[in-house]
Amino acid sequence: MTKYVFPKDFKWGAAASGIQTEGRTNKANDSIWDLWHRESPERFFRGIGSDKVTDTYHRYEEDVQLMKKVGFNSFRTSIQWSRLIKDYETGEVCQDAVQFYNNYLDEMITNGIEPMMNLYHFDMPAELQKKYGGFESKKVVDLYVDYAVKAFQIFGNKVKYWITFNEPIVPVEGGYLYDFHYPCKKDGKLAVQVGYNIILAHAKAVKEFHKLELKESKIGVVLNLTPSYTRDEREEDKKAAWYADLLFNRSFLDPMVKNEIPQELCEIFAEHGVTPETTSEEIDYITSAKIDFLGVNYYVPRRVKAREVAYDLDYFTPEYYFENYINPEGRFNPYRDNNEILPTAIHDIAINVKDNYGNIPWFLAEIGIAMDEESEGKPGSDGIIDDTFRTDLMKEHLIQLHRALEDGANCFGVHQWTFIDNWSWTNSFKRRYGFYRLDLETGNRIPKKHGLWFKELSISGSFNV
Ligand code: FCB
Repeated sequence: MTKYVFPKDFKWGAAASGIQTEGRTNKANDSIWDLWHRESPERFFRGIGSDKVTDTYHRYEEDVQLMKKVGFNSFRTSIQWSRLIKDYETGEVCQDAVQFYNNYLDEMITNGIEPMMNLYHFDMPAELQKKYGGFESKKVVDLYVDYAVKAFQIFGNKVKYWITFNEPIVPVEGGYLYDFHYPCKKDGKLAVQVGYNIILAHAKAVKEFHKLELKESKIGVVLNLTPSYTRDEREEDKKAAWYADLLFNRSFLDPMVKNEIPQELCEIFAEHGVTPETTSEEIDYITSAKIDFLGVNYYVPRRVKAREVAYDLDYFTPEYYFENYINPEGRFNPYRDNNEILPTAIHDIAINVKDNYGNIPWFLAEIGIAMDEESEGKPGSDGIIDDTFRTDLMKEHLIQLHRALEDGANCFGVHQWTFIDNWSWTNSFKRRYGFYRLDLETGNRIPKKHGLWFKELSISGSFNV
């Protein structure tokens, strides 16, 4: 038997987001998810939108007790821009939202759970999308910064870990390249502008945060990172992987962590006529806004090969430079669209952050093992759902993280996606990731066996295999 011991003050917990958990009660405004669901409910699995979801707005006290039961010492969720801000132009806040978030934060803190608060989890206010095109517009960049400053001022040091964006590349991919987020456009030039504007919004918010001198708080960003693995060692495949890495990872990592804009990226954009509008003042923000920590989300590896079939889209996407590739020897999760399972990617990510990004302090901000409700099965006679599959896979991933720590990774915690099965965008409740099942009929939270294991891990800081 081997014992894997993690650092003493390691953060253990889970991640979620406001819109995926809170429900619509007393929400000041709509986000694009409310709007899109109203316009096109058929785009959502079984037509379910984010109206009620886990109903955290009403149930946060009871839920914080459930967090304790599975051993969390920390938890990430997000503030909803469309809940906190009543009037985007004047910056008037919604007092009910202030009260709700304060109560929720206090409840976590008094129960020994460190809250980490994210400011944007794919949830553009509907009004700002309609009026200005969301992050297509620099006006919205500034409105985001006003909102961020309000949040810093109101909740300040109560939140020790502030996060500007979760997976900032995803709204670019979903909304402007591949049609899985509103506004469902397919436009490479707009995509690059939106990506740039989000990086700018992040940089400006980080600058404002530092001006406030909240001495006890830190600020960071959460990126979804996966190395690009090739079919084999042939040169054209390695080149394909280099492009995929540049466009999907370095495009956000370099400006946000190293404060550098990769020259090669600018060249690619120029070649395709998709160079964004920038000013030298904006570039100064981006190249000087220092973050304190990084969050990394990891689910599945990216595999690529050189293009074999000619690129036939009439707009720019990263796939101009590669094709996605399924590893015939890979291991796949039978419960999640056959996604590949590759725990060693965690080690590769950690070493990349260590060697190429100044070994910035980071945490595994999302790692999720998806199962559907049927494969998790019904609760046993003890009332607990047996999801040993999840625990076994989690162990494999954590062994790789442990190896990375031994190799000098500066990782300070692990958050699993997610706490209670929550609503996940167009997939709605199709995939379950939680420590607790959400019974959609009754709203009941049903414990899963994995939580018992996690509690042991969190308390002892170790596990045996
Ligand atoms: C991540 C998102 C999160 C959730 C999981 C399943 O990419 O950050 O909101 O939907 O996927």
